[in-house]
Amino acid sequence: MILVAGGAGYIGSHTLKQLAKKYQAITFDNLSAGHRENVKWGRFFEGDLADIESLRTCFRENAITAVMHFCAFANVGESVKDPEKYYQNNVANTLNLLSVMREFGVSYFIFSSTCATYGNPTTLTLSETHAQNPVNPYGASKLMVEQIVKDYAKAYGLKYGFLRYFNAAGADPDGEIGEAHDPETHLIPLAIYAAQKKRDKLTIFGNDYPTSDGTCIRDYIHVNDLAKAHISVLEHLEKGHENIELNLGTGVGYSVQEIIAAVEKITGLPVPYEMGPRREGDPAVLVADNKKAKEVLGWEPTFTLEQIVETAWQWHNK
Ligand SMILES: NC(=O)c1ccc[n+]([C@@H]2O[C@H](COP(=O)([O-])OP(=O)(O)OC[C@H]3O[C@@H](n4cnc5c(N)ncnc54)[C@H](O)[C@@H]3O)[C@@H](O)[C@H]2O)c1
Repeated sequence: MILVAGGAGYIGSHTLKQLAKKYQAITFDNLSAGHRENVKWGRFFEGDLADIESLRTCFRENAITAVMHFCAFANVGESVKDPEKYYQNNVANTLNLLSVMREFGVSYFIFSSTCATYGNPTTLTLSETHAQNPVNPYGASKLMVEQIVKDYAKAYGLKYGFLRYFNAAGADPDGEIGEAHDPETHLIPLAIYAAQKKRDKLTIFGNDYPTSDGTCIRDYIHVNDLAKAHISVLEHLEKGHENIELNLGTGVGYSVQEIIAAVEKITGLPVPYEMGPRREGDPAVLVADNKKAKEVLGWEPTFTLEQIVETAWQWHNK
């Protein structure tokens, strides 16, 4: 039985759907940001990582053999204003999970990390060997967990996979689940809301970056491509292979303006937007070098930007 901590959330629920085709799964989630209706596969245990007894109960009642850990707060701006909230949930609460895993002898841990652990890139694309110097508490909290897990691996034999996602986007092509953060901070859903006139116009944070059109460039990876990598990493660890740290992105970057154009094309609606000032701590370009994931896992991102926007649009339109 695989424990999916945070399985009621966006990336967790998409992973759960694929995982359930091969494994038994149980979601552990406090529904602080996730949605109960996202957990359509496997069992559901409502609990908070802060409550170690609820974790123990979940492990006692279920024969858990591996953990995929998606739970976290993930808003960079908020992490700067309220770092304690981030270190508490992302680091201290993760320690509870690791501690209960040890108590129950569970040794596979797959962790949702982020390209935000790298900080400002010094190379055009980011490979796993790029220095990790996070520039905000969110990225720092994820790097701290990586460090803790590495120490657990050395001391207690924990087996791990760190998956450093770039920008997760898109939705389940069957339309069963999609992206619904509240508040939403991700560009593609915000552009769709603006097109649907469900929200105010979109604000672009800075158009004076050293990029082709002056707006920030990011690497958008379909959530199902991320999900697929989790299952490959689990199989990789179960086969006894080395612990791994992988960047998950497409290797291709799109500017904010290009994303707006893609949303306009797919929806057939204009996306009203305004220019705002730069946001602190936003690097101009964040694009993955994904060679290692391809080599080690034989993983390939399969969704194009059009398909990412199309699946997101279909889901939001429902
Ligand atoms: N969305 C992205 O583009 C992106 C990029 C890089 C990394 N990540 C990481 O991926 C993970 C998943 O992201 P997401 O977008 O699916 O987020 P999400 O908020 O949709 O999912 C997180 C889930 O964890 C649950 N949760 C949070 N704290 C909990 C706690 N203390 N106890 C129990 N449940 C708790 C929430 O209720 C939610 O269901 C996060 O760790 C995030 O940092 C996301």
